[in-house]
Amino acid sequence: MRPPVASVFWRALCAALLALCLAQPALAAEAKKGAAPKRGILLVAFGTSLPEAVGAIDSLKAQAEAAFPGVPVRMAYSSRIIRDKIAGEGIVRRAPAQALADMAAEGFTEVAVQSLHAIPGKEFHDIIATARALEGMPKGIKKITVGLPLLSTPEDIKAAAEAILQSQPKRAKGEGLVLMGHGTEHPANAAYAALQLELWKKDPAVFIATVEDNPGLDDVILALKRQGLRGVVLAPLMSVAGDHARNDMAGGEDDSWASRLKAKGFAVRADLTGLGSRPAVAKLWIEHLKRAVQALDE
Ligand code: CO
Repeated sequence: MRPPVASVFWRALCAALLALCLAQPALAAEAKKGAAPKRGILLVAFGTSLPEAVGAIDSLKAQAEAAFPGVPVRMAYSSRIIRDKIAGEGIVRRAPAQALADMAAEGFTEVAVQSLHAIPGKEFHDIIATARALEGMPKGIKKITVGLPLLSTPEDIKAAAEAILQSQPKRAKGEGLVLMGHGTEHPANAAYAALQLELWKKDPAVFIATVEDNPGLDDVILALKRQGLRGVVLAPLMSVAGDHARNDMAGGEDDSWASRLKAKGFAVRADLTGLGSRPAVAKLWIEHLKRAVQALDE
């Protein structure tokens, strides 16, 4: 015969197990009813007002969809100026906050947001702030992760240098390549200098200049002359070949980069291919997205 203490123990254990068995289906049903996880992806580009430049963004979206079959992929533009401009032409692009609010209303519970910006500047930090503000709101999206821009970590910069060079067509002898970055007063502008260093390790005739900050085109003209280069290929260091690439870089106005270089005696060719349309570079953005999706499980 069992001592009374053990008997009480066994009876209690059986009662507990029975209660658990009875409760199990009810608990499972409760969990199901709570909210089946619904996963989505939001890509955030700066945006472009030029229909001929949208292809680069569409192609990144198609690659995201191919990487995650069955996961809905949405698109937002971070630039209000661009959104307002195209709204006048009847094209609606949502701001990141609006896009996330819409996804919450549609019942998405987990969203990986991927920045399609080149550097982690102001636009990117605004995405982080938006994601943090909207994550975990009542009846909202429970988890929001944010994937880094193209040129974020030292590994990114090495990989980008390689991808950019391998996706450039061969240049003639004596021809340099000048990549047009956007440039910003944000500290992330330093990413351009880091990329320049990696590019020079592989090809000393490749230069980065920016439209709006340092280094500028004049710095690069000095370097081109020092190397005795007489020809220049211009290409955008931006996800799309938009207004900056088509006008400020390759345009016919006297102050475009093409005109300024021609005035200095260089032979100039423009390559209007956005980084998003260069498969080796696009792949790096998609790898960042894969990390952001993985982080939803962490
Ligand atoms: Co600009």
